[in-house]
Amino acid sequence: MDPIDARSLFPVTQHYAYLNHASAAALPAPVVQAMDRYLADQARSGSQALVDWDDRLEEIRRLAARLIGAHRDEIVFTSSVSHGLNIVAAGLDWRPGDNLICAETEFPANVYPWLNVQRRGVEVRFAPARGHRIRVEDVAGLMDRRTRLVAISFVEFSTGYRNDLDALADLCHQRGAYLCVDGIQGLGALQFSVADTPVDFLATHAAKWMLGPIGAGFLYVRREMIPRLEPVMTGWRGVVDRDDYFRYDSPLRDSGERFEPGSLHHVGLIGMGAAIELLLSVGLAEIEARILALTDVLIAGLQVRNCSIETPIAHRRERSGIVCFRHPQVPSGVLAERLLAAGVIISLRGEVIRVSPHFYNTEEDLYQLLDQL
Ligand SMILES: Cc1ncc(COP(=O)(O)O)c(C=O)c1O
Repeated sequence: MDPIDARSLFPVTQHYAYLNHASAAALPAPVVQAMDRYLADQARSGSQALVDWDDRLEEIRRLAARLIGAHRDEIVFTSSVSHGLNIVAAGLDWRPGDNLICAETEFPANVYPWLNVQRRGVEVRFAPARGHRIRVEDVAGLMDRRTRLVAISFVEFSTGYRNDLDALADLCHQRGAYLCVDGIQGLGALQFSVADTPVDFLATHAAKWMLGPIGAGFLYVRREMIPRLEPVMTGWRGVVDRDDYFRYDSPLRDSGERFEPGSLHHVGLIGMGAAIELLLSVGLAEIEARILALTDVLIAGLQVRNCSIETPIAHRRERSGIVCFRHPQVPSGVLAERLLAAGVIISLRGEVIRVSPHFYNTEEDLYQLLDQL
């Protein structure tokens, strides 16, 4: 689908210049319609639902796998990034004296699950953010032979810095450590494939750049890692004979489904499925190119207006859909209110204004923002 044609699928465009995908998606119509259909079907027929929703969930698992070049067996449906990261943090066989590396500018979703393993004798080390960048050499400098894992975001939420996951994956694998990624600020906006970038785990949530609802997401677990993660929660849906309700000795499934103990959040996952279909129909390469072209226009407009750009922009490979800036005179809090009054939706994060356009935004949306500066 042509990205410009797709704009009509986003009701938010009739009301706002919506530049806040790093905060939450404004749901596209096909996502809302898919969820509506599910709810209407349940209301009309209950257990006699017309559609076999289990078949649709299987399609959605395959769609999630396709989005990142994985196999359906490597996908675990979750409710949030935190849910997925906790499956990893709680399931690894930590030994006292082990350590892991996190980074300074991470969103807390990618910190607390790791701090929680301190009580198992694991040390948590923080890589510094220098000049808003988390440098691979700084991560390397913190590693030693007891480093078991590096936990980092695809894109940093407060700066838009796109971490060098290829270099981090190489580093981790040379040193015998795992790489665990919080993908939420990148997936849906930037191309990513586990075939090219062999991370061990990746947790995401449909609610931002993936253009899906809040409360549905997935965790990718590299196939070899599935048996190495202790399932901290087990249940009837995670076993091989899940439909045989009268036996209790069924083994766990070999796939990521073993980490899904009970019934899934159907309506959320159905929304996520429709969202992934939309992303794939526009094309991930096209989406990334458009987002970077839009942020080029934004950055140039901010520079002309003497705004200080806090996002690292020296190299294209470190760019993402997020651009953070400050105005030379107007405090960011005042500016955020002015933008809201002008129908421009952005986020205030600390001292900076964070702008995050998606593929269906236009240059006019950006000029609506720039005109207020
Ligand atoms: C980098 C990052 N990770 C995670 C989250 C959300 O975490 P969760 O899906 O656990 O609610 C956010 C934003 O809300 C975020 O910016």
